[in-house]
Amino acid sequence: MAKNSLTIIDNRTGKEYEIPIEEGNVIRAVKLRDIKTGPDDFGLMSYDPAFANTASCRSRITYIDGDKGILRYRGYPIEELAEHSSYLETAYLVIKGELPDAAHYRAWEQNVKTHSMVHENIKNFMQGFRYDAHPMGILVGTIAALSTFYPEASKIQDLESRRLQTRRLIGKLPTLAAFAYRHSRGLPYVYPDNELSYTGNFLAMLFKMTELKYKPNPILERALDVLFILHADHEQNCSTNAMRSVGSSHADPYCAAAAAVAALYGPLHGGANEQVIRMLTEIGSVRNVPQFIKQVKAGERLMMGFGHRIYKSYDPRAKIVKQLAYAVFEVTGRNPLIDIAVELEKIALEEDYFISHRLYPNVDFYTGIIYQAMGFPVTMFPVLFAIPRTSGWMAQWAEMVRDPEQKIARPRQVYLGETLRHWTPIDHRPEPTMREDAVSDVL
Ligand code: ACO
Repeated sequence: MAKNSLTIIDNRTGKEYEIPIEEGNVIRAVKLRDIKTGPDDFGLMSYDPAFANTASCRSRITYIDGDKGILRYRGYPIEELAEHSSYLETAYLVIKGELPDAAHYRAWEQNVKTHSMVHENIKNFMQGFRYDAHPMGILVGTIAALSTFYPEASKIQDLESRRLQTRRLIGKLPTLAAFAYRHSRGLPYVYPDNELSYTGNFLAMLFKMTELKYKPNPILERALDVLFILHADHEQNCSTNAMRSVGSSHADPYCAAAAAVAALYGPLHGGANEQVIRMLTEIGSVRNVPQFIKQVKAGERLMMGFGHRIYKSYDPRAKIVKQLAYAVFEVTGRNPLIDIAVELEKIALEEDYFISHRLYPNVDFYTGIIYQAMGFPVTMFPVLFAIPRTSGWMAQWAEMVRDPEQKIARPRQVYLGETLRHWTPIDHRPEPTMREDAVSDVL
């Protein structure tokens, strides 16, 4: 039987090293430090910009097989959760590891809803933002501000404190998001209605006008709930990595979550669905699709909403979102961009370029079309991602805090700068000769 180890011969010294292989395909990078040319040598390290092949943690939350298009939370296939579960039940699963029984679910729902109100000072704080402030900017600021309202959140080793902050954040996110939206429209803020479901209440806080009681459309309420389920977690993506990394310094979870939202704000992460809408609008008609595909194949354009670092087959979430779009259109009327999207997908999936590059629709390809049909402005798209991802961030953060192997996140670097130089008085310095990679050229 093959041994679970890797044998390395260092050709500089002729020495042989045996490194254990754990979990089927994992070697500990720190073991490379044993490989040295002499006692003063630092030892080898691995260089992995953008963590393309580095596991930063052990996790039991989300499983992805990018080749097979599999996504599971705690072992449950995303398709089953999208069909049968609710967002709050899925959030419970992601955070606690098991589906709740009826009594636990009732208690969880009650506990989350109890925290849907925000301190009036938060409202005043939000009033300070300009009328055209991007809602993601407002969200980053207000989540960080929550840290000052709940100083006990700094007790990150305390289980009860972690539970309380988790319920608070999941409970308050829809309120903060809705207030940010109403702020941008110059509309009065709508307070939470805890008789409604989690997503129904969110829709009420967004869209309630003068009616005494807002009644969410059940199809739109369910569609949003399904979209929330699909976005609850996605293992070690950019924003989750930010959550873990900031949390690893033992900053409180509000500060860490604010960092995660900031990471999600970027167009390469939570902002891609907005770019899809811009692309489809620019294409304008099904007639123009072949010309657009030609440009993509020539390397002149990116097809937004296509391709993924992990999925090299159809993103399982995109399949569900595509079906959902037609259910939403029954209520909202058809978003004409869907026809362009479907044609793009059809042609792309037959083209060699997309097949050979293993490019398939990702979750963002169809979500923007639904959000737009439901009346959300594009600036709200990443906010609609941040609300459900909060459960994933908190689950990943708690896992990190409790993991005895984790320490403050602190990568190493490959230093390429000057060796030792000595300071000289300003009038003795020679005319600077800028190197190609000098800092002044890039800042
Ligand atoms: N359209 C056209 N070509 C593409 C696309 C695309 N959307 N995505 C990748 N490619 C090509 C690249 O040009 C490259 O080609 P080459 O090898 O001939 O040079 C090859 O496929 C590999 O692409 P990379 O950029 O190296 O792949 P990476 O894993 O680093 O990037 C990413 C993944 C960022 C998602 C990329 O596919 C992309 O930019 N897609 C469009 C933006 C997008 O939809 N982002 C949302 C991602 S999902 C999410 O974050 C929720």
